[in-house]
Amino acid sequence: MVTAVTVRVPAKVNVQLAVGGRRADGFHDLANVFLAVGLYDHVTATPADRLTITGEGRDIASVPLDESNLAAKAALALAAHAGVAPDVHLHIAKDIPVAGGMAGGSADGAAALLACDALWGLHTPAERLLELAGELGSDVPFPLLGGAALGVGRGELLTPLEVGGGFHWVFAVADGGLSTPAVYGECDRLRRARGTGDGVADVPAPEADPALLAALADGDAEALAAALSNDLQEAALSLRPDLAHTIERGLGAGALAGIVSGSGPTVAFLTADAQGSAKVAAELGACARVAEAPAGAAAVLAQP
Ligand code: C5P
Repeated sequence: MVTAVTVRVPAKVNVQLAVGGRRADGFHDLANVFLAVGLYDHVTATPADRLTITGEGRDIASVPLDESNLAAKAALALAAHAGVAPDVHLHIAKDIPVAGGMAGGSADGAAALLACDALWGLHTPAERLLELAGELGSDVPFPLLGGAALGVGRGELLTPLEVGGGFHWVFAVADGGLSTPAVYGECDRLRRARGTGDGVADVPAPEADPALLAALADGDAEALAAALSNDLQEAALSLRPDLAHTIERGLGAGALAGIVSGSGPTVAFLTADAQGSAKVAAELGACARVAEAPAGAAAVLAQP
C-alpha cells in the first residue's frame, strides 16, 4: 500500500503575457507564454481521516492552510471526479515566492492533483487532469506540462513549445504580494484612462510573438531578452512604483532584460550565463533567487 506520495513542482515566469479585453465572465483573453523555472514547491499526500493541510518554508505564514488553498481544492475536485472520499493529509513545503506572480499557489494545486492521483491509485488520464487543473485556475495546468507552453483562452488552454537551450534567470522577490485581480483591474483602468477602447472591448486580440517563439526554440538568450513582454507590467508598476527601481538595479548589474513576472511583484531578470546571474544576484542581495529554465513538469518523486 502507498503510504506517502511527494510531488515536486516548478514555478513559472511569463516570457510573454499579452492581455486582451475583459470578457463577459470577468477574465481576460490571453496569449500567455509560460516558461517553467527551477524553483520548486513539494507537496506530500498521506492517508488521513479527513482532508487536512499543513505547510512549512518561506512565507508559509501568509499561505492559507485551509480549504481555500488550491492544493485542498485540487484534492476535493479530484476526489469528486473519481467518486472517492477526499481523506488525505497534504503537506506543502514552499520555496516558490508567495503571491509573487510565479504561480506558486497554482503549482501546489497541480502538485496536489498528481499526488492524490498516485496515492489513491486512480490513474486519471493526463487530459482529464489538465481539464480539472484548468477548472481550478488559469495557471494550474501549466506545471503539469513544464518546459514551455503557450496558454490561450484565460491562459489554461495549452500548447507545448519547443525550447532549444537553457536560460539563466534571477528573481527579485518583493516584500508583500500583489493581488492578481487587482493588477488586472488596474490594467483595465489604465486602458480606459488612456482611451484604449474601454478596457473591455476594443483591445486587440492577444497573439504570441513569432520572434519570441523563435528565440525560445533557438535557445537564444539575447533574442529572448529583446522579445520579453508583459502587458500587466505597467499596471503592476502603477500599484508598486518601487519595482521600477528594482528593474534598474538588475539592468545596471548587467542583466540582458528585466520584466515583472506575471502580475508581480517579483521581477525576473534574464542573464547571459551563470556568471551574469551571480553578478545580478550580488547586486540585489537577500531578495535574489537564481534559477535556470526550462524546468521539467511536476513529477512524483521516488520514495526513499
Ligand atoms: O484563474 P485564476 O484564479 O488564477 O485568476 C485569478 C484572477 O485573475 C481572476 O479572478 C481574474 O480577476 C484575473 N484573471 C483575469 N484573466 C485571466 C486570468 C486571471 O482577469 N486570463
